[in-house]
Amino acid sequence: MSVPSPLTRLPDHKLTLGLFLPMQQGAWSPSTAPRSTSWTFDYIARCTRRAEELGFDLVFGLAQWLGKGGYGGDMHFREHEVDPIIANAALSSLTKTIVLINTVHVLYAWHPLHLAKFGAAMDHISGGRWGINVVTGYKPSEYRMFGLEPIEHDHRYVMADEFTTIMERLWSEDDELTFDGKFWKTEKAFLAPKPGQRRPFLVNAASSGAGLDYAARHSDLIFITSPTGADPEKACEALPAVNARIKALAYRYGRQVKTIINPHVICRRTEMEARKAYQTILENEDTVAADNFVQTFVSGDTASWRGHSRAQWVIGGNVHLVGTPTQIVEWFGRLSDAGCDGVQVNFFDYLPDLEFFGSEVLPLMKQAGLRR
Ligand SMILES: Cc1cc2nc3c(=O)[nH]c(=O)nc-3n(C[C@H](O)[C@H](O)[C@H](O)COP(=O)(O)O)c2cc1C
Repeated sequence: MSVPSPLTRLPDHKLTLGLFLPMQQGAWSPSTAPRSTSWTFDYIARCTRRAEELGFDLVFGLAQWLGKGGYGGDMHFREHEVDPIIANAALSSLTKTIVLINTVHVLYAWHPLHLAKFGAAMDHISGGRWGINVVTGYKPSEYRMFGLEPIEHDHRYVMADEFTTIMERLWSEDDELTFDGKFWKTEKAFLAPKPGQRRPFLVNAASSGAGLDYAARHSDLIFITSPTGADPEKACEALPAVNARIKALAYRYGRQVKTIINPHVICRRTEMEARKAYQTILENEDTVAADNFVQTFVSGDTASWRGHSRAQWVIGGNVHLVGTPTQIVEWFGRLSDAGCDGVQVNFFDYLPDLEFFGSEVLPLMKQAGLRR
């Protein structure tokens, strides 16, 4: 049967708006500057419900498998995280409209039938609001935690393709599925209930050739990174080519996708206050945590985040937007002009920053035609 794109279930705004949830201790920033942000479910639920009230389209939870102490330092950066798929199951009962996306490392000993079943359950509980960010895992240490050997970069996407194909068929086909794959097999596998519209949202965040080819074939939302680091001026010059390449690839497969970038937003009434808040995060860097955090990315085989400097990692996230509400909305407009279909914002101090964003930035986004 032909399956309608889940993108038709997203409201029709010029710029899709998501919140990158602070699922992991310390969220994006290895900095001990004072803040309320917390990894606890209660805090995550408050962020999600407030984002829904403010009209955000989606929230997103990342997943990483870290050892004792996380990335280390005094703050044990990212040590704690409530599993995002479990968190989303609970959040789906606390919310009504917002789309809930969580990350799953599909190559860490999952069978596609398991995840398809979980996905159908999540879709059922949330009323078609669930999505999965399919990641293949770029950290050798994570594979070893599961007793597995790390897998070569491009081969991971060959495996992810088979895994996702099996899930898609289990979700969409009426009959039992017997599949004799290279990596997974099923005999008369069957799912009931199916996801209501036969397909949860599929998300990916690749940058490499193999990763983007996978994403163009399977994903609905594609998270992109700035190849030139966090400076928004440089990012806006580089991103049109990134977005055009992804859209062309998807077009070749006859598919529609939306690209979303995650800016770190530091917004205050005056530019001077915003710049001061930026400096405060930097001045309170947790050096050990920051060193370890950066090291993971520069030593891994990931094609994303290659252009970010060490200082930019201390702030965290993708492009850094620092300024007044007017300036932030101007940057959103420029990201939109650069071909980004959405922004998924990170904050340093989530609840107060989200509140300020809701009262000062969102109305200007509407005035600018970015939101209805
Ligand atoms: C916005 C964003 C979110 C991501 N979330 C996760 C995550 O939760 N867990 C993870 O292991 N990797 C995550 N990644 C990394 C990607 O899955 C991927 O490994 C990386 O972007 C490298 O792309 P490549 O595999 O094409 O080289 C994320 C990347 C981006 C840009």
